Amino acid sequence: TCTAPVNIAVIKYWGKRDTDLILPINSSLSVTLHQDQLKTTTTAAASRDFTEDRLWLNGKEEDVGHPRVQACLREVRRLARKRRGGGEDTAALSLSYKIHIASENNFPTAAGLASSAAGYACLVSALARLYGVEEELSEVARRGSGSACRSMFGGFVQWQRGERPDGTDSLALQVAPETHWPELRILVLVVSGEKKPVGSTAGMQTSVETSPLLKHRAEVVVPERLAQMMKHIQERNFEGFGQLAMRDSNQFHATCLDTFPPIFYLTDLSRHIIALAHRYNAHHGHTKVAYTFDAGPNAVIFALADTVAEFVEVVRRSFPPATNGDQFVRGLPVGSAVLSQELVAAVVTEPLPGAVQYILHTKPGPGPQLVDDPSQHLLGADGLP
Ligand code: DP6
Repeated sequence: TCTAPVNIAVIKYWGKRDTDLILPINSSLSVTLHQDQLKTTTTAAASRDFTEDRLWLNGKEEDVGHPRVQACLREVRRLARKRRGGGEDTAALSLSYKIHIASENNFPTAAGLASSAAGYACLVSALARLYGVEEELSEVARRGSGSACRSMFGGFVQWQRGERPDGTDSLALQVAPETHWPELRILVLVVSGEKKPVGSTAGMQTSVETSPLLKHRAEVVVPERLAQMMKHIQERNFEGFGQLAMRDSNQFHATCLDTFPPIFYLTDLSRHIIALAHRYNAHHGHTKVAYTFDAGPNAVIFALADTVAEFVEVVRRSFPPATNGDQFVRGLPVGSAVLSQELVAAVVTEPLPGAVQYILHTKPGPGPQLVDDPSQHLLGADGLP
């Protein structure tokens, strides 16, 4: 049994040069979120008594034949075979046994938080553990979902695009550990009642085929930004980090509009949140909060710890909770803040009640973890959930 984290990109991955191997057109960079707030847990078991491969996601049986699940399984088994040098190690688990896999998220999938990255990173970690594989595994996780390779490490992680056609150099690397920037915090603004938009896999393919802006972004913009972003992270420069994260999110969404037919992930509410962040920063005269949006409606906000209480209060005033406000703030504790009249006047314009369901407060965290405690296994002694 293993657990694995969610990650959020500050230099976005959007577009593949090889859809089968999942090789990206540009490198990307992300922050791994702490598993105390968001994680996937996966148990994998093999037995000569199992008659078929089976998979359960959040308690519901799913198709184990999914090509991406199969790709991960095949690659981990290939590494195991290589490690055993072809000879039959009798102590090692037989690679021919059928397997059972059960996986669960500790956050509602309906919340629209990207779960495929944590899910595939966790699947690969659990399978590697089962077969005793210790090799570089981000290359395998990448075959499940591109962004999953970045969830194989904690802290700040780069997925380098690589050059080789076989993908052996398209890997994730840790840029800095989760302890590197202790003041950094993340607020996920989970928004209400949005339907599922176009998925990333289909969306990015249309973008690759039709958007000249995406081509320019991958060839010219991202290489420059990646170097700048690494420097901002090394120097713990929030001004630089935040500005660039916002610009990169905006450019990703610009490539979506440049896709034909266009794709819209940002909504009116996203635009409200963007405008709010800019008013807040303008009021303070520097970058105190930075937003980023992926292929879904939730806003992710970066801030330093000393800004969180005030900004959360600004969000509460701007999007008053629909019910009694209980559980509006979840995750790490948030202190209380009193807003000055000038701040309210400058930043809080026409409130939108109920638009933000809740705020999840978290911070950077470590990569996949091994779970020893048997009470946390998701499969029983009979191999069933
Ligand atoms: C907008 O990793 O979900 O979140 O490789 O097809 O599985 P596939 O796509 P996926 O795409 C993530 C896109 C993004 C940006 C990012 O995480 O870098």
